[in-house]
Amino acid sequence: MNRTVSPFPDQKPGTSGLRKKVPVFQAPGYTEAFIQSIFDSLEGIEGETLVIGGDGRFYNREVIQTAIRMAAANGFGRVLVGQGGILSTPAASHLIRKAKAFGGLILSASHNPGGPTEDFGIKYNISNGGPAPEKLTDAIYARTQTIDHYKIAEFDDMDLDRIGVFEAGGMTIEVVDPVTDYADLMETLFDFDAIRTLVAGGFRVAFDAMHAVTGPYAREILVRRLGVDPALVFNATPLEDFGGHHPDPNLVHAKALYDLMMGPDAPDFGAASDGDGDRNLIIGRGIFVTPSDSLAMLAADAHLAPGYKDGLKGIARSMPTSGAADRVAAKLGVEMHETPTGWKFFGNLLDAGRCTICGEESAGTGSDHVREKDGLWAVLLWLNILAVRQLSVMDIVRDHWADYGRTYYSRHDYEAIETAAANALVAALEQRLGSLPGHQVGSLTVEKADSFSYHDPVDGSVSRNQGLRIFFKGGARLVFRLSGTGTSGATLRVYMERHEPDASRHDQETLTALAPVIEAAEALAEIRKWTGRDAPTVIT
Ligand code: G1P
Ligand code: ZN
Repeated sequence: MNRTVSPFPDQKPGTSGLRKKVPVFQAPGYTEAFIQSIFDSLEGIEGETLVIGGDGRFYNREVIQTAIRMAAANGFGRVLVGQGGILSTPAASHLIRKAKAFGGLILSASHNPGGPTEDFGIKYNISNGGPAPEKLTDAIYARTQTIDHYKIAEFDDMDLDRIGVFEAGGMTIEVVDPVTDYADLMETLFDFDAIRTLVAGGFRVAFDAMHAVTGPYAREILVRRLGVDPALVFNATPLEDFGGHHPDPNLVHAKALYDLMMGPDAPDFGAASDGDGDRNLIIGRGIFVTPSDSLAMLAADAHLAPGYKDGLKGIARSMPTSGAADRVAAKLGVEMHETPTGWKFFGNLLDAGRCTICGEESAGTGSDHVREKDGLWAVLLWLNILAVRQLSVMDIVRDHWADYGRTYYSRHDYEAIETAAANALVAALEQRLGSLPGHQVGSLTVEKADSFSYHDPVDGSVSRNQGLRIFFKGGARLVFRLSGTGTSGATLRVYMERHEPDASRHDQETLTALAPVIEAAEALAEIRKWTGRDAPTVIT
């Protein structure tokens, strides 16, 4: 039946679909209007398959029931839903591809907190398993501005906990095991025997699932298939509020794991993943590996894993990610792509066979096995490399720096600042970009400055205003951009990096090595003046 709704003028989806507080999604008709706007923007869904799943956060089950009823009323022929409403983002991406589905709805607000007053999110992925491209998200947004009704079938809630095939509203509903297909895919990519032998030989692996979606995946893959000690798999039961924590695998929110890895009884390898399982944190005994470095190191050694034994077609990274991977691509003689922030930009490159591995500084790494970043995939590739090379994480990192130089890297986030002030800061800096080359800032000299535009080499589309870049003589770089995923006010992200070829200087503290770049950020953007903040909210 058709029900009336009013348009929601504020629901511009960001880089990862629509994210709002739970009470916003609970407002009558809000969730329905957004889902209908997605369905209205798709062509040819009649009789097709839709995948639905989420990260298990608060409100996940309710929205899944609504989405199933709406899929039936909108003409889908089949829905595949993860048991318990669970599907990690990479597992959903895989299932869409494997089942040749038309697309999928992924319910998550990624690494943001969950609970009755916390965050929720809905995003749509297309048939290649990847996030909707900009053309489609623009169409969805346009539709939200005019939508006046939605279609919903009337049948009882489905039992999401029972695996099986059901019929309702003229549609088939399959409740599927969310883990097995994904775990099997991982076994095709990595040498599980080698990893099992490594673990059996006493190599201790710790994993923090942060009470989020990767718990069941880690139990099956790490513990059951690879023999990892279950006592070192922490927070493996998904909770609707993630135990009251942020399921964000960084040094702030995964501090317990970090402390363990820096402590006297540290395991050999530590990792964590986020709310929906697409991000990764990698920590060796006594050493944190930055995501930008991890991308470069995984790319350099990927050929050691069976799934990548023929080498890489290319590497892609988001623009704010450090240039460490570029040096690997140059050495391997493969293409290097620099894309705007957000996984959706990698999709075309992966589909066209222009890259095999891609990554973002925000703890996302992945490959052409799915069309999303994949937290456990990164963990397994690291373990495969460690099993083959028989070195510690520390030694692999130091080896890499010795070969390629070290790229010091840090990101400063100013969260929940006033939107108008954030926009004014960016506008003021943007105006000055043209006058910056040759300009001296402390000990640094500006070489080049621009606003990043991306020309997609596959479909020719252009994405402008993707961040302000300031390059300094000698290889340092500063990037400023506003987050597209925050849920209150604006978040300013400042990305700093500096390449240090000299191995005798690779032991400097990151913030010491970056001090001139950090000072230049304040001098050029006047962050204090615009935001009223003396210090960033989060430093990673
Ligand atoms: C952030 C990250 C970005 C990532 C996105 C979705 O977006 O910076 O790399 O793709 O979350 O996980 P931002 O808030 O910076 O727009
Ligand atoms: Zn995520």
